[in-house]
Amino acid sequence: MKPITVPDFLLAKQSQKKISMLTAYDYTWAEIVDAASIDAILVGDTLGMVVQGHGTTLPVTLDEMIYHGKMVVRATKRALVIVDLPFLSYQVSPQQAIENAGRILKETGASAVKLEGGVSQANTIAALTAADIPVMAHVGFKPQSVRAVGTMGKIQRDEELLLEDALAAQQSGAFAIVLEMISRSIAARITETLSIPTIGIGSGPQCDGQVLVINDMLGLTDGFSPKFLKHYAQIRKTATEAIEAYGAEVKSGIYPGDEHSHR
Ligand code: KIV
Repeated sequence: MKPITVPDFLLAKQSQKKISMLTAYDYTWAEIVDAASIDAILVGDTLGMVVQGHGTTLPVTLDEMIYHGKMVVRATKRALVIVDLPFLSYQVSPQQAIENAGRILKETGASAVKLEGGVSQANTIAALTAADIPVMAHVGFKPQSVRAVGTMGKIQRDEELLLEDALAAQQSGAFAIVLEMISRSIAARITETLSIPTIGIGSGPQCDGQVLVINDMLGLTDGFSPKFLKHYAQIRKTATEAIEAYGAEVKSGIYPGDEHSHR
């Protein structure tokens, strides 16, 4: 099985092959995602919400991203693993970004990092790519900017600014770009204009690939159902039923039965 590389992303765009990407945060789920032939695994800083229980991604630290990145890389044989640079681990200066992204690549074995921003991060993306650290950019709604924009998941509508951001990321050397919560027509225009692949989340079908948060698409997250999200399973319901059945069987003495007991 040939592992997917950063140049394969560009080849996928050139040959118009869609790219599938999912988040994963630990060994077990990364193993399942990889075995299911998903092209890329994002160790997203959404782990701040879906793993750690925070309301935003802001509290996540670099050490925590590295901790989760190591587990995911250990489980992955084929997919390209990309690890998010968390809030304030790259915004201070390009040098800070190189040091922290370098730690991610060295300590986790991941292939690339992701950061939020286009025009505002152009110098940093250029510095990282000059240091041979592949960068996936992220424009549109940027969860790390939630304090500045005031609300989660706000659709970005300024077409020219979004295009400028996407072009700046490409010109600075990003190998791919996440488009989050952008109207489908603007995402289509950006996708046609760029030579690097666009990976959409809530940005319509014309992107070169799609990414979802695994806990959301499996129906594990409680009460989160934005329009763009498709639930491919109802794991929370299945798990709840299984756990309740176990609890009831322990209380009633049905479990463990003879077949689950050593003689
Ligand atoms: O952190 C994350 O999981 C992300 C995806 C939502 C794209 O950035």
